[in-house]
Amino acid sequence: MLDSSRSTGARHHSSILVTGATGNLGREVVNRLQAHGARVRSLVRRQNGPRPGAESVLGDLTDPAAVREALVGVDAVFLLWPLLDSSPAHDLVAELSTAATPVVYLSTTAVDDEAACQSDPIVQVHADMEALLRDADLRPVVLRSDTLASNTLGWAKQLRAGDVVSGVGTARTAVVDERDVADAASAVLLAHHDQLEQDVYMLTGPEVLSRADQVARLGAALRRRLRFQALPADLARSHMLEDGRPEPLVEALIAASRRRPESNGTTDHVERLTGRPAGTFARWAVDHAAEFS
Ligand SMILES: NC(=O)c1ccc[n+]([C@@H]2O[C@H](COP(=O)([O-])OP(=O)(O)OC[C@H]3O[C@@H](n4cnc5c(N)ncnc54)[C@H](OP(=O)(O)O)[C@@H]3O)[C@@H](O)[C@H]2O)c1
Repeated sequence: MLDSSRSTGARHHSSILVTGATGNLGREVVNRLQAHGARVRSLVRRQNGPRPGAESVLGDLTDPAAVREALVGVDAVFLLWPLLDSSPAHDLVAELSTAATPVVYLSTTAVDDEAACQSDPIVQVHADMEALLRDADLRPVVLRSDTLASNTLGWAKQLRAGDVVSGVGTARTAVVDERDVADAASAVLLAHHDQLEQDVYMLTGPEVLSRADQVARLGAALRRRLRFQALPADLARSHMLEDGRPEPLVEALIAASRRRPESNGTTDHVERLTGRPAGTFARWAVDHAAEFS
């Protein structure tokens, strides 16, 4: 665990910029930083959207002027890159370099450091973002997260209508509770750089699960007999498009289902950063049961 006696000092009066603050993970990061007494600024795309932080700057990650304004006076940045292409990130990286602000970047455990080419476009964009930040000498702390448990909230509509979750099949992953990732991120953001033992952390849950395993655990939490039905790629594609998902995202998800390998097991990095072992998906399902009914 990061030494709290050292991180209870001035860093708790830090000002932190959180990107993606309206999302499943970002809002948890904001809550934790605020609970630790940090000043939080968020970069938000809609002024009338949720305002989780005390302060917000209106703008897109691809808008250098908005990023420049958001960076003024902050001590660290929690950076997400939710786009499927890293080329629009060059301006953002230039702004980060000018501001010389420490960056904590949220990546994925699926990045393969040995591979010339990553398994699918989603992993490739994270590998490219990590490289862009390192090449700019920003010395980012990279938090590589496994699949967030909150992704399963996307099944809520199907589970309100019946007992079957159907969708594209994927390799098993060490599903991680987004609250654990947020705890780890907030610990890193509030730490002094010399407290960190490494610059890449692999954040996983405690077990490697298939989608069928996740649906079964949700069923136990909801006291219902639920099952997962893997769809052929063409059918999954048309369902996702009918649901209104953008085509490039749908193609990236299909590619991930075909090519992403199984997660390489679990790590203790959540515990090393937070002092607590990572929670189970079964626990997450109990805590979120109401959101599925
Ligand atoms: N989900 C996973 O399993 C997983 C695993 C590893 C890494 N990650 C990384 O973690 C990120 C967050 O995951 P999540 O589940 O919290 O996603 P999420 O709930 O979809 O949230 C995405 C956030 O990014 C914001 N955003 C999207 N495009 C933006 C843009 N062009 N400029 C500024 N903000 C933008 C969204 O703002 P709006 O409210 O305006 O849409 C929202 O706040 C992912 O994008 C991915 O890079 C995710």
